[in-house]
Amino acid sequence: MEKIIDENKQGETLTLQHKEGNKRKLFIESYGCAMNFSDSEIVASILTDQGFNTTQNLEDADLVLVNTCSIRDKAEQTVRKRLEKYNAVKRSHNPKMKVGVLGCMAERLKTKFLEEEKIVDLVVGPDAYKDLPNLLAEVDGGNDAINVILSKEETYGDISPVRLNSNGVTAFVSITRGCDNMCTFCVVPFTRGRERSREPQSIIEEINDLWNKGFKEVTLLGQNVDSYLWYGGGLKKDFDKASDLQKATAVNFANLLELCANAQPKMRIRFSTSNPQDFTMDVIETMAKHENICNHIHLPVQSGSDRILKEMNRLHTRAEYMQLIDNIKKIIPDCAISQDMIVGFPTETEADFKDTVSLMEYVKYDFGYMFTYSERPGTLAERKMEDDVPEETKKRRLAEIVELQQEHSGFRTRQNLNTVVEVLIEKESKKSTAHWSGRTPQSLVTVFPKGDYKIGDFVNVKVTDCTSATLIGEAIGYSKNN
Ligand code: SAH
Ligand code: F3S
Repeated sequence: MEKIIDENKQGETLTLQHKEGNKRKLFIESYGCAMNFSDSEIVASILTDQGFNTTQNLEDADLVLVNTCSIRDKAEQTVRKRLEKYNAVKRSHNPKMKVGVLGCMAERLKTKFLEEEKIVDLVVGPDAYKDLPNLLAEVDGGNDAINVILSKEETYGDISPVRLNSNGVTAFVSITRGCDNMCTFCVVPFTRGRERSREPQSIIEEINDLWNKGFKEVTLLGQNVDSYLWYGGGLKKDFDKASDLQKATAVNFANLLELCANAQPKMRIRFSTSNPQDFTMDVIETMAKHENICNHIHLPVQSGSDRILKEMNRLHTRAEYMQLIDNIKKIIPDCAISQDMIVGFPTETEADFKDTVSLMEYVKYDFGYMFTYSERPGTLAERKMEDDVPEETKKRRLAEIVELQQEHSGFRTRQNLNTVVEVLIEKESKKSTAHWSGRTPQSLVTVFPKGDYKIGDFVNVKVTDCTSATLIGEAIGYSKNN
């Protein structure tokens, strides 16, 4: 079974508290990574000022927006099915409804969308959301509208996203946009543009604001957070042209983590995603120094074979990655490590695949997201390499590592038996109204009887039982962070 990031959230509709006087109805749906869900909050915030209230009822909507993902072909097919659905509703119920495509598919397909999908009125790329008021005016005038210009500057640092349908406890804060890494399989550098970092002060202000609203955990988001670098604005790749003063006062990711951890010492700080080639020792040391930075690193490796890593343009070797894992575990022994893995990249042999398996055996990841290679138009791999691993082989290899990961997850989870873990309560357990569900700093879901505790509390839980991915226990009191 293929795992998808944010599995339970795919296609979730965003709803906000209604603003008095707003007459138009917006239906907004998101697919793909956490960054897309975070972007939809920015879009909803912009449209609140344009007279829109959100609705969960597609039939009622004046405007339907879908925030899209291009990472694998399957993700695009899901969105195409949704577009057919909107089309059907528009024909049968609501001919005045307008439909817009946001995000990575908008950027990748550009005008093709307006030509191919006749019901699409609006196409907006990830850097153009501030242009929505103008684009909507165009659409209201009966025209199609499109803006897919990628920006060197845009970080939406000045827009405070709305988060009213969240659990009120955990939130995403985006810190970088775009990616410069050019992994040969990946479409993100094409759909999200060049890498740029958001001004630290606006990040801290957002975290303070979240704390004041009762939030207890933030996840700093970026395609490659370790590459964060603020030197007064501009692209990461232009840093060498910065002045001496800019260079001397620049803020890197370890500095930013430190600023965030100090700004709200009781707020849990997480970050995602890390890239091995940019992950530095000072980040590990900063994590070790601050209790409120959670001991979990999502550290995708994609393959355990040096030859495939090279073909993927991942700029590190297997040995360097293993060294990094050793360093992390030496300084933070209880640090959880999770992975993303791709099987069936062009030319991957059985021997290459065995290297992936043995790397997994070495690390014994806490959890992971595993995928079969999906060729993406325009990427270097698509242009230079033949997608030559048969589908059946890809599927077999995927099944093998998914099973292996399950074993490792079980092994890691069981290590918590009979210990006491700190849990931040996020919501009611899906399986029982008598239980709370939350996560440990290592991101392990934990359920326990509710007692007198409430959502947002930090609780010490004695672990009495577990499944392969969930801890089961009993609360024994508030944790010292509460
Ligand atoms: N740095 C990003 C990566 C985004 S893509 C982040 O923030 O997580 C998430 C994962 O999708 C990648 O790590 C990779 O494992 C997988 N992926 C990307 N392109 C893919 C492709 N063409 N086929 C299969 N999986 C892919
Ligand atoms: Fe994609 Fe590699 Fe960047 S996976 S998002 S190009 S780090």
